[in-house]
Amino acid sequence: MSGAGSAASVRRDPKRPAAPVPLPPVPNPGFGDMVRFFLRARKNLISAFDESVYREAFIRRKAFGSDIWIVSEPEAIKRVLLDNFANYPKGIQQQRRLTPALGEGLLTSEGESWRWQRRTTAPAFQHKRVVGFAPAMVAAANDLLARWDSEGTAERDIAAETMQLTFDVLSRTVFGSDARTDAKRMGAAFELYFDTAGRLDIAGMLNLPDWVPTLGRLRARPALRYFQSEIGRIVRDRRALIARDPAAAPDDLLTMLLTAEDPEGGRPMDERQVIDNALTFIGAGHETTANALNWVFYLLAAYPWAEERVVDEIGRVLNGRAPGAEDVGKLTYTRQVLDEALRLYPPAPFMGRVALAADELGGEKLKAGTQVLVSPWVLHRHHMLWDEPELFDPERFAPGRKETIHRFAYLPFGGGPRICIGMAFAVQEAMLLLVTILQRYRLTVREGFTVGPNATITLRPEGGLPMRVERRH
Ligand code: HEM
Repeated sequence: MSGAGSAASVRRDPKRPAAPVPLPPVPNPGFGDMVRFFLRARKNLISAFDESVYREAFIRRKAFGSDIWIVSEPEAIKRVLLDNFANYPKGIQQQRRLTPALGEGLLTSEGESWRWQRRTTAPAFQHKRVVGFAPAMVAAANDLLARWDSEGTAERDIAAETMQLTFDVLSRTVFGSDARTDAKRMGAAFELYFDTAGRLDIAGMLNLPDWVPTLGRLRARPALRYFQSEIGRIVRDRRALIARDPAAAPDDLLTMLLTAEDPEGGRPMDERQVIDNALTFIGAGHETTANALNWVFYLLAAYPWAEERVVDEIGRVLNGRAPGAEDVGKLTYTRQVLDEALRLYPPAPFMGRVALAADELGGEKLKAGTQVLVSPWVLHRHHMLWDEPELFDPERFAPGRKETIHRFAYLPFGGGPRICIGMAFAVQEAMLLLVTILQRYRLTVREGFTVGPNATITLRPEGGLPMRVERRH
């Protein structure tokens, strides 16, 4: 282990990783303050928060006739996400933005429909299955590196590269290798979608109905049309193959969806549900994991002592060979860095809920209809919960210390019954991709480029992530 990476030197590293400086608090916000907040929030939601959000357990505001609470008290979050979760379905904003593309899949459905889909899709994400996807994950990373080797370009937009890479992993694991999907086109369609309809829009905030064509919605239409026709074609082809020759069907998530039966009722999914869930896995698993990788690469470039320790560990554990699922648990420091990156830059920075009935949170009455925001971005930087929250310190997640963190203070994958179904998949994927890339390449941010986080549905590096990539040997 390199001495430069000792816990003592980590704690003293005063350099703050990129984040917007919180605004000074506005004691009694008026209408003008609200409009300013929404204009700022539309560009980048995390730049609209003032300091009080990071210091108080509850922020209770009224905006455009709705009560909005930002909840950052772990026990109250536990009540919203777990103990009384049936009272807190997902917020209108979130549904409004995701439902047009992802339909009534697992991420966007509610009530009985959600419960049934969760039961039916859960076996596809069991440990044994996830481990079986490791070779596809490593193969996707190797293909990326083969392209880097052959093109020899010294600088790349890592945000675009990771997006393509995680899309490739999902194409291989959701559709198998027979899908013939145009990865670039599909990736671009998702990007356009998140960039347009995915943005927090004022029409959404004012609860205008979906048929009101905002600019974002109009620009997203070609992407939506493309998703539906492309995934529809793949699903129909696969269904026909399974009917003809079940043994010939690839062992991937799509076959699992088409053959899955509700363990309680035996009912399979219909075509619409299969399409919606295939889109959901790609929509929920592609950009999130790409951003997790982006933020690790950025942090390692900003903190060379951590990079040195990670590379050291990879060398020690793997000795130059390709990683497998069984190595993930052995790469403890690399995992600490990933955990800390997910704390500082949670790829899914907001979880919105709406209270169906009145409730009590933090000793105060909350009215039915209140919008409740649980924000991993805010929570992970909260002064009540973390020591020097803005500092990069992977030691927070060292074995023995990680277990002392309140279960509802650290939520990169959410919590309660709606916790990310792809969590084990995502952690294994992120680790295998990182390790495979770091074994061969060293990445440093382009000189003079300022990295900064931008939050829409996911938390991305604003303006991309131009990095120099150099072969290690
Ligand atoms: C680093 C990567 C990822 C992060 C940070 C992440 C984060 C999250 C979070 C925070 C939620 C809960 C949302 C809420 O409660 O409002 C969620 C749900 C979900 N995620 Fe992930 N996710 C990641 C990767 C994946 C992957 C790889 C897949 C699938 C292949 C996936 C599929 C889903 C699905 C289907 C849901 C909805 C579950 C339900 O409502 O029952 N995610 N994710």
